[in-house]
Amino acid sequence: MTNQKKGRVFSGARPTGRQHLGNYLGAIQNYIALQEDYECLYCIVDLHALTTVETTQNLIQNVYEMALDWLAAGIDPEKSIVFVQSHVPQVTELHTYLSMVTPMGKLTDLPTFKEKVRQHPQNVNYGLLGYPVLMAADILLYKADTVPVGIDQAPHIEFARETVRSFNYRYNTNVLVEPQMKATEVPKVLGIDGQAKMSKSLNNHIELAATPEETKARVMQMVTDPQRVRRSDPGNPDICNVFSLHKVFSSAEEVEHINVECRRAGIGCVQCKNLLAQNMNAHLSPFRARRAEIAAHPDNVWDILHTGRDRARKIAEQTITEVRLAIGLPS
Ligand code: TRP
Repeated sequence: MTNQKKGRVFSGARPTGRQHLGNYLGAIQNYIALQEDYECLYCIVDLHALTTVETTQNLIQNVYEMALDWLAAGIDPEKSIVFVQSHVPQVTELHTYLSMVTPMGKLTDLPTFKEKVRQHPQNVNYGLLGYPVLMAADILLYKADTVPVGIDQAPHIEFARETVRSFNYRYNTNVLVEPQMKATEVPKVLGIDGQAKMSKSLNNHIELAATPEETKARVMQMVTDPQRVRRSDPGNPDICNVFSLHKVFSSAEEVEHINVECRRAGIGCVQCKNLLAQNMNAHLSPFRARRAEIAAHPDNVWDILHTGRDRARKIAEQTITEVRLAIGLPS
């Protein structure tokens, strides 16, 4: 890694296994682009996953599948540090130190916490409350200055910034670095239901690793403009999720053609979806080939994650040494 980079990026995602189009367009594509200009750390946050999972039965497989998709999509371990959160246990140590400068009320007030309490009232554990502290520890441990995340994570980044100020003030130091959020510009992609954000738990997603046939079948199930009932009804592309995806996967000419023809019932939804499936499959074909190649040697994926772990640990150890010194802990 050279020093001419603009700064250090950290981002994390929970191990959700095979990635879908929403993950790809919302995060992975952006991760790939940032590798050129920043020194990047991309972390599979398995400890965060423990705050809500009921069973860890699929955890290892999910970490593996996610790493595989990241690598196949173009996250390059030569350029970026790709690793698993729990492989660098210093993050839990920093979490403890940060917890000492975290007022309880701040955690209970966070909208993300309240939302989780609503979703899982029977599993409100201490780890869940500390979720933002652990997330701050992720970012601060590596002194990342730039954090690309979706807008839903804004309160967590603000929390991390406040934590840096509290810590540095309390211990009269400047070891921790205040990170900036880099809100990702992403195309709005809904699930095949055309209603909710694409997500695995809602089963409205299209997996990147799906076969061309499966992909086509999912596209054909997509909900279009609900006002358009008959083939002869004009449609409104502005509110159609199929059209949103055309903007991502189809040529400018095709997008324009659909935009015009849909509005005057010149093209039907079936034809429109057929074209989308075809373009999507063409776009994903190199990804799938690369994925199959990598998947032929699963050990290589783990080797990459272990190399990432070693590189991440070097940075982490340095920060922890500085932090302990700043706090005044015995050496
Ligand atoms: N909380 C993030 C999410 O749910 C995941 C995450 C954990 C993260 N640690 C992070 C994101 C550090 C950015 C930086 O999406």
